Amino acid sequence: MLKISLLKYSQNNCYYSVLFNAENKEDIDYMLTLVKNIKQLVQVESGRPKLRAQGKEMAQMEIVKDAYLIIEDEKIKAFGKMEEFGKSQFSNLNFQLTVDATGRLVFPSFCDSHTHLVYANSRELEFVDKIRGLSYEEIAKRGGGILNSAKATAAASEDELYELAQQRLDEAMRLGTGAIEIKSGYGLSTESELKLLRVIRRLKENSPMTIKSNFLGAHGIPMEYRGHQEDYVDLVINEMIPRVAAEGLADFIDVFCDKGFFTVEDTARILEAGIKYGMRPKIHANEMAVSGGVQVGVKYNAISVDHLEQMGDAEIECLKGTDTMPTILPGCAFFLNLPLSPARQMIEAGLPVAMASDYNPGTSPSNNMQLVLSMACIRYRLTPEEAFNATTLNTAYAMGVSNEVGTIAVGKRANFYITKPISSLEYMPYSFGENKVESVFLNGKRI
Ligand code: NIG
Ligand code: FE
Repeated sequence: MLKISLLKYSQNNCYYSVLFNAENKEDIDYMLTLVKNIKQLVQVESGRPKLRAQGKEMAQMEIVKDAYLIIEDEKIKAFGKMEEFGKSQFSNLNFQLTVDATGRLVFPSFCDSHTHLVYANSRELEFVDKIRGLSYEEIAKRGGGILNSAKATAAASEDELYELAQQRLDEAMRLGTGAIEIKSGYGLSTESELKLLRVIRRLKENSPMTIKSNFLGAHGIPMEYRGHQEDYVDLVINEMIPRVAAEGLADFIDVFCDKGFFTVEDTARILEAGIKYGMRPKIHANEMAVSGGVQVGVKYNAISVDHLEQMGDAEIECLKGTDTMPTILPGCAFFLNLPLSPARQMIEAGLPVAMASDYNPGTSPSNNMQLVLSMACIRYRLTPEEAFNATTLNTAYAMGVSNEVGTIAVGKRANFYITKPISSLEYMPYSFGENKVESVFLNGKRI
């Protein structure tokens, strides 16, 4: 028989009351949690949940003011207005955890659908080279950039890489991210790529985050393949992809399809090979040039095409009516001073738009999705509602998990964060560079 006691305590000025097993309080598995007195419960879906929001839908966001939220095990069970809670069927439930969120807002966790989170070294010396006038492409040509990261990554052990990645994942989680896609791509040899993907598998096994892995063997052209890069493409196709598939290490397949990197033809060959092994394309396109990346991504039914700093009317046209999520990476454009993707034009053309961090040591060394949210509004002129849809539901779609996460809907995973006391939802993008997240719940558990 369990001995149950009631404990009240406060943490970060939030008050919690917990029923716990008095003999071993670490053992408790919260079955039912109530979050009450929520100033605004944001991005709820009271009807049938959408898989993505496009065009005008991006401006729509349901909010419940003065709300409650009930979690059963790892799922959202119910939500509604506080004034209706007392007479609802839920008021008699025996909650193991009750959180009073007075003055605070609750949001679905961010989904970060594009990261390169597993790497060995930071690259701040190249950052200084860029300030002094070198371009990203010039640094890459002389063996810096991705090749610099690949060298350090080759020298690091799987355990070292895991430790570093785990810390970064933890930071992202504290900043409100609940689902994340992670790419390989700093290996560039079969063994190193497998090492990176095994690190991602360990993260999947040990983290409460929803994680998807993306095999990016074609991220850079190793020095020894310069001048005959088709041989490296052959290596990716004939050796890497079958080995990655044999260990079941990748959900998606990626290629850096761009000027100075992999061509449209290289990309088509690699995507075809990946598709044969059940990896859906999700690619880098149109960062450096209008490279045909968007078109080749759409042709192979990519779940997303990402970057899109260089977009013409043909690219926008080509995305219409497809299942491919155009994904913008504001951190990269900010860090490299690149032109901004025409986000407004895309939304006005009826397209969906997602925005992710591109967290990596070379072009976007920040895993802060709150900052991405601010940049969405400040630099790309998205309204706060559009920016929330771009960083939650649409990024969830871009990693194939929008049926499980991305909004507050009954039956979805209870992945959400409670803010510090703030005045309104607009305060989230407005107050840029500050952490507004006070506590995080993933799979129904407070982290
Ligand atoms: O998404 N563009 C290609 N890959 C990364 C950058 C990688 C690096 O510079 O290390 C990106 O920006
Ligand atoms: Fe990237």
